Amino acid sequence: MKVIILAGGVGTRLWPLSRESYPKQFLYMNSHSLFQKTWLRSLKFSNPEDIYVVTGENYRFIVENQIEELGYNIPEEHVLKETVGKNTLPAILWGVKTICAESGDSDILVFPSDHILDDGAVDVINSAVPLSKENIVVFGINPSEANTGYGYIKPGKELSPGYLVDEFKEKPDLPLAKKYVEDGYLWNSGIFLFSSEVFLKETGKYQPELYEAFSNGDPDYNSLKSVSIDYGLLEFSERVAVMPLDVLWSDLGSFRSIYNIKEHDKNGNCGPADFIESKRNFVHAKDKKVALIGVDNLAVIDSGDALLVCNLDNSESVKDLVKMYLDRD
Ligand code: GDD
Ligand code: MG
Repeated sequence: MKVIILAGGVGTRLWPLSRESYPKQFLYMNSHSLFQKTWLRSLKFSNPEDIYVVTGENYRFIVENQIEELGYNIPEEHVLKETVGKNTLPAILWGVKTICAESGDSDILVFPSDHILDDGAVDVINSAVPLSKENIVVFGINPSEANTGYGYIKPGKELSPGYLVDEFKEKPDLPLAKKYVEDGYLWNSGIFLFSSEVFLKETGKYQPELYEAFSNGDPDYNSLKSVSIDYGLLEFSERVAVMPLDVLWSDLGSFRSIYNIKEHDKNGNCGPADFIESKRNFVHAKDKKVALIGVDNLAVIDSGDALLVCNLDNSESVKDLVKMYLDRD
């Protein structure tokens, strides 16, 4: 199958570690960046020449270098370079149109590049191929908390395999997220599998202007509507199916989600710091002595030139801070 890797996000909720000039998917974590891990994962479904990367034009060299570092090459025309980010639906649509122009109708797997995902996902994704002939398939994670940063999926009629989706709700507010967790909804993992025909049909139906903009070759990206696949398509479409994905997954989108997968000491603290009478704190710092006394539930993030102190419960609001900085410039 063909794979589209989405690698154009700015990762604002991880400021000051993730910057517009070098977003989180390209930051090295241990030996590889999340983008490189995604490339290696994609090879389990595809040949290198069947992988397409959609990213900002400023990131093209990072993309090419990080792929080369792994010993692979990507044809230049398979790196789709956006002049401006318009969120995930235009990015996916561009990838799908490019694939169809080169190879005709195809089975397509879309990977975000900001996740960690256990290898057990490979079999689950492969087993969903029959389901993707008629539906856009999303992969549902068992929620561990009422997190407002995710899409929520209500499984409906059982298919074999998987379920039809009764309701898809992107980023609900906290009371609604709590209710969804109680009611057995799943989190959207951000991985999508579909046949190009189904995806194009549904996009044409629910986002006709966007669809039209791609009808005569590559569009003027600046003039496109900015919309995510979640808000723009999955909340509307009646042809969405879900496969439960019961493997280790984390989107590492916020300091809260990074904290959740890190090892903690007996008081729930993690990071290079001394902690006295403090619980459930997350510290990131290099070459600096850090001490926390009598505080709970904080993210303390030092990037050298910037320092963020934030309640872990407010991790989602880091994006508002970045927006404020960008608006000020
Ligand atoms: N090319 C391109 N252009 N890629 C983009 C753009 C863009 O304008 N915007 C975001 N991306 C990439 C990001 O780099 C990331 O790899 C992926 O698309 C998803 O975008 P996010 O911005 O990280 O989305 P999210 O985390 O808020 O929400 C999505 O993922 C959640 C799971 O992690 C949604 O699909 C949620 O429903 C889902 O729960
Ligand atoms: Mg994300």
